[in-house]
Amino acid sequence: MMMANLQFFCLLVCSLAIIKTGCAKDNWVEKTIVKNAISKGAVCLDGSPPAYHFQSGFGEGVENWIVQLSGGGWCTNVTDCLDRTRSIYVGSTNIMGPWKFEGLFSINKSENPDFYNWNKVFVRYCDGGAFTGDVEYVDPATNLHFRGARIFEAVMDELLAKGLKNAKNALLAGTSAGGYPTMLYCDHFRSLLPKSKRVKCFADAGHFIHAKNPMQARGFEEVYNALVTLQGSTKALPKACTSKMNPVLCFFPENILQHIKTPIFTAMSAYDSFQVNKTLGQDIFSCIFSRTCTSSQNKTLREFRSEFLTTLPKPHNPKLKGVFIDSFVHHSAIQWRWTIQSGLVVNNVSAPEAFADWYFDRKYWYVIDEKVLPTIPK
Ligand SMILES: *[C@@H]1O[C@H](CO)[C@@H](O)[C@H](O)[C@H]1NC(C)=O
Ligand SMILES: *[C@@H]1O[C@H](CO)[C@@H](O)[C@H](O)[C@H]1NC(C)=O
Ligand SMILES: *[C@@H]1O[C@H](CO)[C@@H](O)[C@H](O)[C@H]1NC(C)=O
Ligand SMILES: *[C@@H]1O[C@H](CO)[C@@H](O)[C@H](O)[C@H]1NC(C)=O
Ligand SMILES: *[C@@H]1O[C@H](CO)[C@@H](O)[C@H](O)[C@H]1NC(C)=O
Repeated sequence: MMMANLQFFCLLVCSLAIIKTGCAKDNWVEKTIVKNAISKGAVCLDGSPPAYHFQSGFGEGVENWIVQLSGGGWCTNVTDCLDRTRSIYVGSTNIMGPWKFEGLFSINKSENPDFYNWNKVFVRYCDGGAFTGDVEYVDPATNLHFRGARIFEAVMDELLAKGLKNAKNALLAGTSAGGYPTMLYCDHFRSLLPKSKRVKCFADAGHFIHAKNPMQARGFEEVYNALVTLQGSTKALPKACTSKMNPVLCFFPENILQHIKTPIFTAMSAYDSFQVNKTLGQDIFSCIFSRTCTSSQNKTLREFRSEFLTTLPKPHNPKLKGVFIDSFVHHSAIQWRWTIQSGLVVNNVSAPEAFADWYFDRKYWYVIDEKVLPTIPK
């Protein structure tokens, strides 16, 4: 009885608060399981069906769609992949819970003025191979499947039928390990919709480079070697690239961006925390935060930034290839500071505003933070 009264009281207070202040409440969205995916062999590592979180557009946004491919690293061997199937985030949709929509996925107009009312789809990452795998073979000892490329197709089939095919505006986005498949499938996504519609892509914190220094290059090379051998990813990669070089190299954005014809925006820190840790190593990653980097470590950081900048699309056609590069040490902007109020700012423009201007053809941004050393965000 007490409980019931208390609940009623809270409900009442919250209803009053909604009228007064908007009663900011987190927006958790349940998962939707992709129908018929299992019959297409489009399954997660553990054989569970793929899933996404969907919230309908409203008002003027009903015919606009954002599809985001989620990230979460990769797995590089059977032991590692089996471990992922026990994680509630990245290996099995059987155990995944709801997802909180915020930032670019916020339904609050003042925080997210350009996209708040769009149809929003957050595709779960459960294949361990950045949506590139496609092998028939199922590991008999572990029942592991490597079918990420099929998952992408199965999800698209379902979304097209759900209304994506009538989109006026559409965006394929992806963060971190989801950034690469965003680049990889950008033109394909474009081809699913009529030419007269606005379709663009957005790779957030996924521009992991192939460093010239072999020691620095090793971390990502190991990952992509594993995807090629374990996941059979080569056939998903662009032929324009694989016909010229080792497929492992075709996972690096500097080798595929030039082949993408659809407009694509790259946002990332030159000192992305994941990339710095994986290429320059944990010592340099840690010295930044303890403010103890030596002058030679600082030199390594500056050189890495310069090399990173040379791999970006050149500024001569920002309409086709928009860029927003900051120098804060963080990983992902969509999931970090993507509201008008807290937006990540460089040269007096915030990332969400620069991106939206670019997307809607209001202004084509090519923003590079001039700070040559990493900045620790407040
Ligand atoms: C919308 O966002 C603004 C700015 O962050 C915040 O002040 C307001 O409470 C939010 N409204 C709702 C309904 O969440
Ligand atoms: C599997 O990969 C993980 C992470 O890269 C590594 O730590 C581990 O040693 C590998 N295990 C085997 C059996 O190769
Ligand atoms: C940095 O990389 C090491 C492996 O080299 C890993 O164990 C550690 O978790 C990483 N740290 C962060 C913050 O990513
Ligand atoms: C390295 O750079 C940081 C700024 O990121 C600076 O505070 C520090 O003094 C530099 N270290 C040396 C030894 O110059
Ligand atoms: C920064 O941008 C704001 C609006 O976005 C503008 O009002 C202001 O004048 C700009 N400041 C500079 C120094 O450009």
